Amino acid sequence: MSKRRRLIVANWKMYGRLTSGLVLARDIAEMAQNARPLNFDLVLCPPASLTWAVSDALQGMPIGIGGQDCHTATHGAYTGDLSAAMFVDLGCRYMILGHSERRHGHGESSELIAKKVEAAQLAGLTTIVCVGETAADLEAGATEEIIQKQIRESLPPGVKTANLVIAYEPVWAIGTGQTPTPEDVVGVHKKIRKMLGEIGETIRILYGGSVTPSNAESLLSQNEIDGVLVGSASLNADGFWAIAEKCQ
Ligand code: 13P
Repeated sequence: MSKRRRLIVANWKMYGRLTSGLVLARDIAEMAQNARPLNFDLVLCPPASLTWAVSDALQGMPIGIGGQDCHTATHGAYTGDLSAAMFVDLGCRYMILGHSERRHGHGESSELIAKKVEAAQLAGLTTIVCVGETAADLEAGATEEIIQKQIRESLPPGVKTANLVIAYEPVWAIGTGQTPTPEDVVGVHKKIRKMLGEIGETIRILYGGSVTPSNAESLLSQNEIDGVLVGSASLNADGFWAIAEKCQ
């Protein structure tokens, strides 16, 4: 068992409408409530449209709420954006940043992500910073180099390590059904810890990419893997709970 408290995060991405999202959140919360006290932290990151409804419905439940992205500024003329403090208003304690769908789909650089991390931490949020190599990087044997660069550039100077979680999400494993072996994940996590130096031992490092109820056990039985960031499998309450309860 990991020395660090495990963390299981649902990233709903752009899925869920008001009714279906609330049903999903309540079903997960009921299972979490019945399993109380939880030996791990459980977090749901719904799309921003549902953040308030979900956090309001889950008040008093052993579940944290997170956002999927935020702006670098506290406020301003930024049409369509939301600041970290606004997510706090919506009941969030966590923020996913630097997801590959933001890095690649929205051209977000590590420098921009570092600014977002700074802003989110300033607002009091725990930041889940995603890093991961593409299939081409993997093929070129550049995984370590890419991750090192992403971590170095995505963490702002003076990053609050108590509010920092890293998620290793190989881009080629996201939504593909392909996963690295648990041993490969452990190898990368160890390198990340080494890179982080002294703080490496205390930071939680999650794995994300095609996590399912069938592969969760082999991943979560590794001490090095402090939890998982789950995409599509988090859209089914029973499936998501089957993953989460491996930590119980
Ligand atoms: P999948 O679990 O759907 O592969 O998505 C992983 C992910 O991107 C979580 O942030």
